[in-house]
Amino acid sequence: MSQDRVIIFDTTLRDGEQSPGCSMNQDEKLKVARQLARLGVDVIEAGFPISSPGDFESVKRVATEIEGPVICGLARALEKDIRRAGEALAPAKRRRIHTFIATSDVHVEKKLRMSREQVIQAAVRSVQLAKTFTDDVEFSPEDAGRTGIDYMIEICLAAVEAGATTLNIPDTVGYCSAQQYGERIAQLAAALPKDKAIIISTHCHNDLGMAVANSLAGVVNGARQVECTINGIGERAGNCSLEEVVMNLKVRHDYYRVGTSINTREIYRTSRLVSQITGSVVQPNKAIVGANAFAHEAGIHQDGILKERTTYEIMRPDDVGWVGEHLVMGKHSGRHAFATRLAALGFDNLSDEQLNRAFDQFKVLCDRKKEVYDDDLYAIVEVELTQAPSAFTLEFLEAETGTDRTPHCRVRVKKDSEERAAEATGDGPVDAAYKAIERAVGIETRLVDYHIEAVTGGQDALGRVNVTIAAGDKTAKGTGASTDVVIASALAFLNAANRLRLLQEAANGAAKGNEP
Ligand code: KIV
Ligand code: ZN
Repeated sequence: MSQDRVIIFDTTLRDGEQSPGCSMNQDEKLKVARQLARLGVDVIEAGFPISSPGDFESVKRVATEIEGPVICGLARALEKDIRRAGEALAPAKRRRIHTFIATSDVHVEKKLRMSREQVIQAAVRSVQLAKTFTDDVEFSPEDAGRTGIDYMIEICLAAVEAGATTLNIPDTVGYCSAQQYGERIAQLAAALPKDKAIIISTHCHNDLGMAVANSLAGVVNGARQVECTINGIGERAGNCSLEEVVMNLKVRHDYYRVGTSINTREIYRTSRLVSQITGSVVQPNKAIVGANAFAHEAGIHQDGILKERTTYEIMRPDDVGWVGEHLVMGKHSGRHAFATRLAALGFDNLSDEQLNRAFDQFKVLCDRKKEVYDDDLYAIVEVELTQAPSAFTLEFLEAETGTDRTPHCRVRVKKDSEERAAEATGDGPVDAAYKAIERAVGIETRLVDYHIEAVTGGQDALGRVNVTIAAGDKTAKGTGASTDVVIASALAFLNAANRLRLLQEAANGAAKGNEP
């Protein structure tokens, strides 16, 4: 491993997916994994195979279908975890087992209730067992950020002796200052045997907003792997954001002097996909991928940019694949031009049916909106790509509302040749639409989250709605886009309802299978 390259270890599918409301199904995980491979990450942590049968299957599918990156699975320092991870990863050409055990006083005494020596023994046994499945073994002392440095180094050296090739130093609760975290990495680097090429890795959480800064401090002090997630999603305040750490290393190469294998032009698309699939909205002022990341509003800035771009821009929007308000096409554009533009945006894998439906929506949009931008195309295609299979589609919607009347909505939905109609009143037209769809589809839900945003500027902007709904212990997300906010809301709701039905059907099928 060259000293001037940092391994990018993406844990969106594991630590990211672990955060509330960010869970993904198998197909969604595969879509994200494909895009991560395209982005050029070195390692994909695909999941935690022992945690559920679904996670096991997802890791196995990623291991089977994704080529390029190393595929990694997480395992506690327990025999059953490691065996399960080994099994899930078996189909991968290049695989890694990542095993961890907590090492801070509070975790060892209160959570594990083990002696420090027992913890070291468990770590050693696990690394040795992991080695029987793959040579590539990573060890993490969980909560390393709050672990006494001598003990942290002792357990890391024992893991190396047992065969670990990567030592990951998690600041599990985002507690460290950048200087402290950097020193921790430097001390570990100094203690490692010089005859072994051990990679030190950072894994920083963002509880105090320090995840990216701490990861970079780790790199400055010798870490050559950074664990991160797309859009920084993850437990609580999240993980180190991939796009931020990568662009720091790229834009300030003069300072950090290390590169990555990331194709930065794929960053924006990856961010959009993860946001779309998880329903976790990117804040507008988020560095690198936020809607305002490259918007210059102040007149003085616009003037500067027009005279010389570098007055206010330290990187080009193109460098991260940002499309923004790029005018693309209008109502006279044909299907071929539409498909070509989508391919240029990276959507070259749509089926004919998906392309036809997306094109129909594009035509409807052209009738309603003067100018259609790349961002609008993203919205249309992303909605299409996240449709559940065997789904109800919205055939008709009519909503009435007013200051002096009860909002009322009529809908008609269709699945295969079956059409169902229903109507309902509600607190507002969106509420009425949701109740009418519930009746038509035959499902009862509660609304957990509702978010609406304008995709591009202007009064005729496309509105994109993300909803999360729940029934019993199942939750599902959906997205819809339209220039009419009631229709966008209804499409998002129907999208989520379709997914919820699939989850319920799968759960009912599993329950039946378990009957004696
Ligand atoms: O934050 C953490 O400590 C983790 C470990 C499992 C690496 O995610
Ligand atoms: Zn973590």
